[in-house]
Amino acid sequence: MTAFSRSAVGKQGYGCMGLSHSYGRAEDEASIRTIHRALELGVTLIDTANVYGQGHNEELVARALRGKRDAVVLATKFGLRFGDDPEDRRVNGEPAYARRRLEESLRRLGTDHVDLYYLHRVDPLVPIEDTVGELARLKEEGKIGAIGLSEAPSDVIRRAHAIHPIAALQSEYSIWERTVEEDILPTTQELGIAFVAYSPLGRGFLAGNLPTEADDRRHQHPRFQAEAVEANSRRFAAIEAVAERLGLSVAQVSLAWLIARDVVPIPGTRHIANLEANLAANTIVLDAAVLTELDAAFPIGSTAGSRYPAQMRATLEAVGVR
Ligand SMILES: NC(=O)c1ccc[n+]([C@@H]2O[C@H](COP(=O)([O-])OP(=O)(O)OC[C@H]3O[C@@H](n4cnc5c(N)ncnc54)[C@H](OP(=O)(O)O)[C@@H]3O)[C@@H](O)[C@H]2O)c1
Repeated sequence: MTAFSRSAVGKQGYGCMGLSHSYGRAEDEASIRTIHRALELGVTLIDTANVYGQGHNEELVARALRGKRDAVVLATKFGLRFGDDPEDRRVNGEPAYARRRLEESLRRLGTDHVDLYYLHRVDPLVPIEDTVGELARLKEEGKIGAIGLSEAPSDVIRRAHAIHPIAALQSEYSIWERTVEEDILPTTQELGIAFVAYSPLGRGFLAGNLPTEADDRRHQHPRFQAEAVEANSRRFAAIEAVAERLGLSVAQVSLAWLIARDVVPIPGTRHIANLEANLAANTIVLDAAVLTELDAAFPIGSTAGSRYPAQMRATLEAVGVR
């Protein structure tokens, strides 16, 4: 496919991060089978980033997409510290850095262009106009099909969009993380920017999935500490009741709630059975009464625990994102 567009990506994409790290171990051959199953079931949007497994994820995606590259809208990201490069900043939106990281990603992905290239985090030290200006040049050169931002605040989205149309904003959004509804989501709607919802299952919590393996990053996340899990489980019961009543799973209700808002969730899973169950949410329509019931059970800001550990939160707070 040549470029990202809302109509080209359907109702859900597939997030590949967990195939390299974050939620326990994954085995490459099984991961490739899972990506193939996603494509068979009609998924087109494949989401990766250079930092996922420090290049491992992009190489894995390249293997899975061999001979199938044209069937997908391939999205990757740059801007977060990569490898042990001593010159690297935690967040880097320098134009030359964007170009260098893209060339590396294209090599790992085994393609001459990606369909959507995101700035992974906004760099407080580099004007967004400079970063997006370079991304626009990369687009002119045919190396990227469209420009995306991730976790950008409204003012930055507007400034970026004035330099070159931004095709997609990718930010955390789920029924237990609704802060974007305050002004970021309305800004994307006003400007006609597609909203891609990452961690749509609350990193597994909204699928009843809690960390069990030692190398699961959620052990460092405030929302997965025992007290927060207990507090959040009380409201989880509300969505569970809806799911039971409708004969659905909690994960399906959570995804259908996002789809009803016309955003594109990109859940990640290492398991084909979970993938199939998640994609079944594409045909679920929650009625207005159910949506109101769910909204009332999960008011904005009511989830116990912050959504990221302090160091990762700092990269958001540096540019005014909560
Ligand atoms: N832009 C950014 O800064 C950013 C940040 C984070 C993520 N992302 C992107 O968003 C994608 C999705 O986010 P995410 O992976 O963080 O969180 P997520 O999709 O909300 O949750 C993933 C977790 O849910 C579990 N899960 C998924 N479906 C399930 C089901 N039906 N039943 C039980 N458990 C289920 C997975 O475990 P199993 O593997 O065991 O199924 C995994 O532990 C990532 O892959 C990545 O591409 C972007």
